[in-house]
Amino acid sequence: MKQVLVTGGMGFIGSHTVVSLMEAGFRPVIFDNLCNSSEDVLEGIARITGEKPLFIKGDVTSAADLKALFTGHNIDAVIHFAALKAVGESSEKPLEYYHNNIGGLICLLEAMQEHGVRNVVFSSSATVYGSAAHMPVDEDTPLPPAMSPYGSTKQMGERILFDASIFRSICLRYFNPIGAHPSGHIGELPLGVPNNLVPYVTQAAAGLRKSLTIFGEDYQTPDGTAVRDYLHVMDLAEAHVAALNRLQQVQDRPHWEVFNLGTGKPISVKTLVETFEQVNGVLVPRVMGPRRQGDVPELWANPGRAKEVLGWNAEHSLAAMLRDAWNWQQKL
Ligand code: NAD
Ligand code: WQD
Repeated sequence: MKQVLVTGGMGFIGSHTVVSLMEAGFRPVIFDNLCNSSEDVLEGIARITGEKPLFIKGDVTSAADLKALFTGHNIDAVIHFAALKAVGESSEKPLEYYHNNIGGLICLLEAMQEHGVRNVVFSSSATVYGSAAHMPVDEDTPLPPAMSPYGSTKQMGERILFDASIFRSICLRYFNPIGAHPSGHIGELPLGVPNNLVPYVTQAAAGLRKSLTIFGEDYQTPDGTAVRDYLHVMDLAEAHVAALNRLQQVQDRPHWEVFNLGTGKPISVKTLVETFEQVNGVLVPRVMGPRRQGDVPELWANPGRAKEVLGWNAEHSLAAMLRDAWNWQQKL
C-alpha cells in the first residue's frame, strides 16, 4: 500500500499527516477544494520533507472531480479528512454540513467502489460522545443523540462505513488536537475569530485579540473550568500511519474498527492557559465568562484500544504542544 489519497490534506490535521506519511514512505496525493486552507501549505510541507507532495484541487462532493482523480492515479487507500468542522456554524447551516460531510463521504465511497479501492480511514471526533456520564470514555460507550448537526455527521459517517461492508474501514475519534509541526512551517490556520481554545490563546498572547474569555468557572471539576483531552497534532498524524499499517494487515472484508485518539489525561482550561504562560514566558490576557452553550463539563479518552491494536500512543507533553503552538503563531 503506497499511494494514499488524502482528502482535506491541505488542512490542519491533513497537512501534518501528509508529513508523517511521506516520512513513513507513503506517496500521498492531496485532494482539497481549499475552502478552509491555502496552497501555501505545500511550501511548508516541502520545507520539512524536502519534497512537494502531489496536490489536486477538487471537491469530494463532485463525482466528476473524483472520477478524474481515481482514473488518473492508482490509489491504494484513502484518508478522508475533508469536512466542515465548526460545531456552532453547523447549527446555522445544517444542510451545508450534511451536504459536505455526508454527501461528500457517499460520493467518495461511490468513486472508491467504482475504482476498486477498498481501504479507508475516516476522521471522526470525540464529539460523538456528547455528554458522557463516565470518564474516561472508551469506544464501547453508547453514543447519545448528537448535540449538533456536525456531531451528527460524524456519527452517521461512522455508521455509513459500518454498513458499507465492501470496504475495510477505520474510524478515528480525535479528541482535542492542538500544536503544530515543531519546525513552525505548518500549523493551524483559523479563518476569522477562532472557535477553539488554543488558537484563541496564541492570538491573545500575540496581541491580536484583546483577551481570552474562559467559558465557565462553575463546572464540577477540580478548578471549576471545563476539562478536555488535548493531544499534539503530530501524535495524531502518526496515528494515521498506524491505521494504514493496520489496514494493510487485515485482509478480511468487511472490516470496521473505531479508535479513540487522545492522551487519556484530563486538562482544565485554567491549567492549559497557565502552562502556556509558563512554557512560553508570555502572558495571556483573560477574563472569566459564562459557559458556552453546548459545551460538556468534561471529556477525556481511554486510549487503551489504540495502544493495544494500533501500537499507538500520544507521546508529546502538554508543554511541547503549547510550545509548538506558540512557535507557529510567532511565524505567522
Ligand atoms: P481543516 O478545516 O483544517 O481541514 C479540512 C480540509 O478539508 C480543508 O483544507 C478544507 O479546504 C478541505 N475540505 C472541506 N470540504 C471539502 C470538500 N468538499 N472537498 C474537498 N476538500 C474539502 O480541519 P481539520 O481540523 O484539519 O480537520 C480534519 C478532519 O478532522 C475533519 O473531518 C474534522 O471534522 C475532523 N476533526 C477535527 C478536529 C479538530 O479539533 N480540528 C477534531 C475532531 C475531528
Ligand atoms: C476547549 C475548551 C471551551 C474557547 C471542539 C468540538 C469538537 C472537536 C474539537 C471537531 C472548552 C473552552 C474555548 C475560548 C474557552 N472538533 N474555551 N474559551 O469544544 O472541546 O471541542 O473542538 O470535531 O467536536 O466541539 O474544543 O477548543 O473549542 O474548547 O474557555 O475562547 O476551551 O469552553 O471547555 P471543544 P474547544
